[in-house]
This record gives sequence, structure tokens and C-alpha cells, in this order.
Amino acid sequence: MYNVHPVAPKRLPELLKRMPKAELHIHIEGSLEPELIFKLSKKNNIPIPYESVESLRAAYAFNNLQSFLDIYYAGASVLINEDDFYEMAYAYFLKAAEDHVLHAELFFDPQTHTERGVPMEAVIKGLNRACNEAKDKLGITSCLILCFLRHLSEEDAFKTLDEALPFKQFWVGVGLDSSEVGHPPEKFAKVFAKCKELGFRLVAHAGEEGPPAYIWSALDVLGVERVDHGVQSIKDPELVKRLSSERIPLTVCPLSNLKLKVFSSLSEHNIAKLLAQGLCVTINSDDPAYFGGYIYENFIKTFEALGLGAREAYAFAHNSFEASFMSVAEKEKCFHALKVCFESFVENDA
Ligand code: HPA
Ligand code: ZN
Repeated sequence: MYNVHPVAPKRLPELLKRMPKAELHIHIEGSLEPELIFKLSKKNNIPIPYESVESLRAAYAFNNLQSFLDIYYAGASVLINEDDFYEMAYAYFLKAAEDHVLHAELFFDPQTHTERGVPMEAVIKGLNRACNEAKDKLGITSCLILCFLRHLSEEDAFKTLDEALPFKQFWVGVGLDSSEVGHPPEKFAKVFAKCKELGFRLVAHAGEEGPPAYIWSALDVLGVERVDHGVQSIKDPELVKRLSSERIPLTVCPLSNLKLKVFSSLSEHNIAKLLAQGLCVTINSDDPAYFGGYIYENFIKTFEALGLGAREAYAFAHNSFEASFMSVAEKEKCFHALKVCFESFVENDA
């Protein structure tokens, strides 16, 4: 392992900003800022029950996952045309570029749109256009992960899969999101088995609010390669052992956990404990427009609250590339860029 040189505390914000990183847990609909919601609401003539950008933002006070999801689905209702999906995703990539994200894996929720009559093609092609432009103009690589809404039936998930298969060259994997408690991973065993057979990568949200049993089920019934959130794993030492020994990544989202009251303060967040126990944990933004910040804000606020430094910064960034769906060669390039960045901080310090 690379020997990480300490960085003076006053330079930590700059290091966290500038270090190359991957984002692996971002719901692209959760990057829809209130300003864009209002713009699209007017353009598409879709009313939203808020007077102004400020009053909408003021409604972003959540008690739990469900209270957030209610507003998140209302916000997404203004997305109608391919261009809307493009505009939303490209706005995210501009923010990601500022935070030195080299690679992003974007979740999207097609059922939120197709059930309103939006064609699957508009969703996927709009997002794909933004991904291509991010590569050409910003140098950010990316891929799309189609999420099934777990509050809906497995039959609905199969229907969604069928509708998305004509565009299968544009997305690489499937995930599972929305209301967790009461909708365990095994509810989707058959559709995940089908997706595996078709060669898609598999991930699932588990252990955000739900118990460790949901994480076991995501691993052993669905066969996921990566667990989204997974912070409840700490309650089950056998599970922590398994995640550590197999280096199964957890894509953790500290500001999301704070806003949805999974932890009562960031200083109580368990991400540093999970890292110290040898888990491949990463830092991500989840739904940045709703939770108070993009990936850099997640890094800086977590580091300040938990008193973390350069060693942990390197580990999180390294883990983000390791846990990504990039090829080995692409990962090697990112690991190299990470070392170059850390070495520039050592030289500047001397
Ligand atoms: N959890 C579950 N579903 C979601 C989330 C989340 O944090 N964000 C968007 N859909
Ligand atoms: Zn999420």
C-alpha cells in the first residue's frame, strides 16, 4: 500500500477537493436542483405545489427515507423530454468536474418516468447523451445503472427490464432503490437472476434503514457485487467479517444518512469504524440536490466531524476506483492519478 504522507490540516480541504475520485452512488434524479425543477415545470406545464425555489428548498426537511422519497418523486415529475434528462445529467457532470470526479456511475429510476407516460427511450437516450458529452468535454467517464423501485412488484420490474432491453448498450447494470423496510431484496430474486444471466452488473441498496438480514439477502439471494449504503452491517460482526474478507464495497452517503436521520449527527457516523475494520467503503452524494451537497461536501463535512486526514482520504478515493465497474486498465490510470495528486501535496509541503 502507498505510504501516505500527512497533510497539514489547513490544506485538507484543498486535498479533498483536488484528489481524483469516483462517484458510485448518485441517483441522477436526486441531482435535480430546485431552480431546474422550476424551469422544467414552466417549460413542460407541469404544476408543482410550491410558490418559489426558496419554498421548495424549505420543504427539504426530512424525518426518514419515506418523507424524502415523497418529495423526490414529486420533483422528478417535471422531467418529460429527452432534453430534460440530458440537461439534468449534464448539470450533474459540471458539478462532478469541479469536485475532480474522474468517473461516475449514475443510478436512474425509469419506473418513476414510464408510469407517467414518458418513453423509456427518452430517459435512456437523454442520460446517455449527457454521459457522452461528459467524456468529450469534461474527460469524465461514466455508466448508467437502472434501478428497480422496490415498493413496486417484481412483475413491474420485469416489465421495466423488457422496456429497457432495446437500449441495453446504454446501461451496464441494475440496482434496487426506494422504500427499503418491508421490501427485502429477495422480493426481486427472479428479476436479478435474469439480469445476471443477461450479463448485467448487480448492486442493491441494503442496510440503509433495513436490518443486516437485508444485506445478507442482497449478497446471497440477489448476488450483488456492491452494497449501496450498508451502514447497518455494523450490527452484525459476522457480516462485517464477510464484507471485509471478500472486499465487498459499501457505497456510503454520509450527508444522506444525516438528513434522513440514520445517524443523529455526522460525528456519530460509523464510516470511519467500517474503514478501520478493513471494509472497502466509499463516500458518495446519493441525492445531492436534496441532502446539502455534492461529493466534496460529503468528504469535507465527514472529515471535519470525524477528525479524519490524508490517509483516510487516500483510502476512500482508492476504494472508489477499486469498487467501480471500470476496466483494470482504466482503474490503473486512476490509481496513478491519485498518487500523482498526493505526491504534489508532499512536494508543496516541503
Ligand atoms: N434510498 C433509497 N432509495 C432512494 C434513495 C435512497 O437514499 N435515493 C433515491 N432513491
Ligand atoms: Zn441511494
